[in-house]
Amino acid sequence: MKFDVITLFPQMFASPFAESIIGRALHKGLLSINARYLRDWAQGRHQVTDDAPYGGGNGMVMKPEPLCRAIDDVRGENPGAPVALLTPQGRRFDQGEARRLSGEPGLILVCGRYEGFDERVRGRADVEYSIGDFVLTGGELAAMVIIDAVARLLPGVLGGDDSAARDSFSDGLLEHPHYTRPVEFEGRRVPEVLLSGDHARIAAWRREQQLLRTLQRRPELLEHAALDADDRAILARLRRAETLT
Ligand code: ADE
Repeated sequence: MKFDVITLFPQMFASPFAESIIGRALHKGLLSINARYLRDWAQGRHQVTDDAPYGGGNGMVMKPEPLCRAIDDVRGENPGAPVALLTPQGRRFDQGEARRLSGEPGLILVCGRYEGFDERVRGRADVEYSIGDFVLTGGELAAMVIIDAVARLLPGVLGGDDSAARDSFSDGLLEHPHYTRPVEFEGRRVPEVLLSGDHARIAAWRREQQLLRTLQRRPELLEHAALDADDRAILARLRRAETLT
């Protein structure tokens, strides 16, 4: 999958993806990440990309011409890739969006700085994403979050196992707890069932823990989770037990 990022700070994208899982995937050619310098599409001796807001007020606004020229050119080089603006006003990015985007041939991410984009840039994009209800100094960190979340879902990136399929949110639930050695740490033992070697019991325990975690921490997720009749019976029991304690 081909990621293009339009940004005033392309150097920010080098080290976060140089290491570990995404670094290896880049090396294998499973994806590419091209950070494009917005100033290259600006004109004039000073290559200006921002200007004062009409109507007055603080801060600067990103000019529409360099951004739109950049978007048009990069679209031509990454055909079929949706163009996404990063702004706090966008649609909330989530695992469902990550999964949907991982099926696209590419993705073009446009990072804002200062007070934001001239409003006329909005029509040039296919979608606008926010990564949460807080304001960053620019869209770059949001773009990195989205690239990471999408890239790890691409075939081959996480290796041969099904770890992406078992992620929190993949079936709408949080993940079950994990344990590794030692079997006892600061007086707390690993749950006996995980040492039993009984795979059916372990799977049942993990499912129940997923349901319990989600009920305790993110109960609103249960409304849209993929639950079967066994899950619903377990949940009813867990809810009764919660109200008793
Ligand atoms: N740019 C500034 N804040 C942002 C946010 N929360 N999400 C996406 N882009 C942003």
